[in-house]
Amino acid sequence: MIDLHTHLLPGVDDGAGTLAEAVAMARLAAADGVTTIVATPHRNPWSYRADRADAERRLEEVRRACQCEGIAVRLLLGGESYIAPDLPEQLETGLALTINGSRYLLIEWPLAEYPPYSDQVIFELQVRGVIPVVAHAERYRFIQQDLRGLARQVERGVLVQVTASSLLGEFGPRTRRASEDLLTRGLAHLIASDSHGPERRAPVLSRARARAAELVGEERARALVEDVPRAIINDERVDLPPPVLPKPRPFWAFWRAG
Ligand SMILES: [Fe+2]
Repeated sequence: MIDLHTHLLPGVDDGAGTLAEAVAMARLAAADGVTTIVATPHRNPWSYRADRADAERRLEEVRRACQCEGIAVRLLLGGESYIAPDLPEQLETGLALTINGSRYLLIEWPLAEYPPYSDQVIFELQVRGVIPVVAHAERYRFIQQDLRGLARQVERGVLVQVTASSLLGEFGPRTRRASEDLLTRGLAHLIASDSHGPERRAPVLSRARARAAELVGEERARALVEDVPRAIINDERVDLPPPVLPKPRPFWAFWRAG
C-alpha cells in the first residue's frame, strides 16, 4: 500500500517532532503493509517554508535511519498546501511542493467554510497542468452538509483523499458517514492516513482498506490504497468513473443534515 498523506518529516510542523518519531511512524507503516510513504508537511507562508533542499535533507536522514533499522519502506516528498489566492505563485516559488514532483498537489481548505476564491484558484492550478488532490474531504463541514459542490470539482478533474481514521469513526459519526458517502458515490479516489505521529492518527491503512472493501468491494478498495496513489507518485493519468451525483435533498429531509 501507498500512504500519500503523512506528517512524517520531523521537526517542521505538527507531525513527527523528532527523527525517532519519524522512524517509529515508518516502522508502524511497514508492519501494516505500507511500502511507500509520502511525507507531506504543511507548506504555508506562516509555517514550514524552508526550501525543498531542507525538506529533502530531513527526509534523507529518516531514510538512512530506517535503513539502519531494517525498515523496508520507500520515503518520498510532497507537501500539503492551504488554499490561498496566491497558491499558483507558491508553486513557482517552491513553497508549494507537489507529490513526488508530479502534477498532483495536495490542498486543504478551512474545515468550516469554503473560501469564495477557491474555484478560481483551482481553475488557475488546472490551467497550469496541476491536478489538485483535496485532503481529508470528509472532514469539511460544507462537504458533510452537501456533496454536490465537491462532485462538481471532481467532474472537473479534482481528486479526493479520504482519511483512514475517519472511515473507522475516530472523528465521530458525522465524519464517518461523510467518508462512507464519498466512497459509495465514487467521490473518493484514495485513502491516506494523514498521520501526525506514531499515536496521533497512526500511519496505517489496512483496517481502513478492509472497511472500504465492505463498502465498495475489494477491487475499488485496492485502487484507493494502491493503484491510484501509485499513479500519482509516478505522475501518470488517473482515469476514474464519473461520480454518482447526489440528488437535491427534499425539504422535508432537512434533519439528515444534522
Ligand atoms: Fe495533513
